[in-house]
Amino acid sequence: MFVRDLIDLNQLSLDELDDVVDMACRISSHPTHYSSACRDKLMATLFYEPSTRTQMSFQSAMLRLGGKIIGFDNPNGTSVAKGESLKDTVMVLSGYTDIITIRNPLEGAAFAASLYSQVPVINAGDGGHLHPTQTLTDIVTLRNVLGRTENLVIGMCGDLKNGRTVHSLCKTMCRYGGNSFVFISTEELGMPQYIKDIITRSGCKYTEVRTIEEAMPYLDVLYMTRIQRERFDSFEEYKAQEGIYVLDEAKMKLGRPELCVLHPLPRVDEIAYEVDDDPRAYYFKQTLYGMYARMALIIRLTSDSEKFIPKVPKPTHDFTCHNPKCITQFEKYLPHLTVETPDGPVCAYCEH
Ligand code: NCD
Repeated sequence: MFVRDLIDLNQLSLDELDDVVDMACRISSHPTHYSSACRDKLMATLFYEPSTRTQMSFQSAMLRLGGKIIGFDNPNGTSVAKGESLKDTVMVLSGYTDIITIRNPLEGAAFAASLYSQVPVINAGDGGHLHPTQTLTDIVTLRNVLGRTENLVIGMCGDLKNGRTVHSLCKTMCRYGGNSFVFISTEELGMPQYIKDIITRSGCKYTEVRTIEEAMPYLDVLYMTRIQRERFDSFEEYKAQEGIYVLDEAKMKLGRPELCVLHPLPRVDEIAYEVDDDPRAYYFKQTLYGMYARMALIIRLTSDSEKFIPKVPKPTHDFTCHNPKCITQFEKYLPHLTVETPDGPVCAYCEH
């Protein structure tokens, strides 16, 4: 049975994941064959945080499948501004629609929404935590550009601490054999330890370096990210990190001919515009694969049209999450739930 919600791509087995990727590739070759795959289905896009690509690729995906959309991208125009809880919004919207996509600045918000929804919930980004549909996009792109998702040396550069795209990407790419990671960041913006532990446990290797130049000759993939200004505690801390990494023509000369440069976008200043003309720059093609990836995912998740009665689990541990960015700090009715990991129980919402 396919999953009900997509909160973390690791909910899918590798076979299920490859199945969605294959479907996305088929859709990209013949998009019009799918133009009524979601006829009569309605999707809600609940975007509590700014978004261009994710929101509009979900909307275009649903419209191209023959479905319809409702939603908001500015919660201030909804009852959220009057203090409505996430639970109440989701209870109501899941009654109206067949599938919900949600983006929220708090970690674990999509999981929280899934507890109260009668229809499938897709995580379109929960704070600095995860962004599974971006990873699906990245995998579809790699499959199309490089023809494989294993035995790759993957460089990730920029704000690896706050960037949810790179967290999701690491968690999934370390499930494929033979991948290794090169993390290019300042000390302050390094990859969180819990992600590095997941990589180590998977048997994959990672190294950490401070400059793009030293990594460049070895990479199959260079995944650039912006410094996540909105996730810093102060403007001074952000200013200290701004502009440190810029991929330009000179650095591209150090890369292999088959290098694939990706970026989830938006770009701020970390890729010079001159790089756009390099045939190894795939970040705009990547955005198109994102729409096909989301079309495939929507088809899979809406194939069962029965609504379900949400059942909120009871806590099994006496546990309180102390992550200040976790949804449980703000939506106080949420039960504090845990999941088991080899290092003991962690918060089921934000993995802290
Ligand atoms: C990313 C995001 O929102 O996490 N963008 C996206 O979804 N395409 C990356 C970012 O904002 O830096």
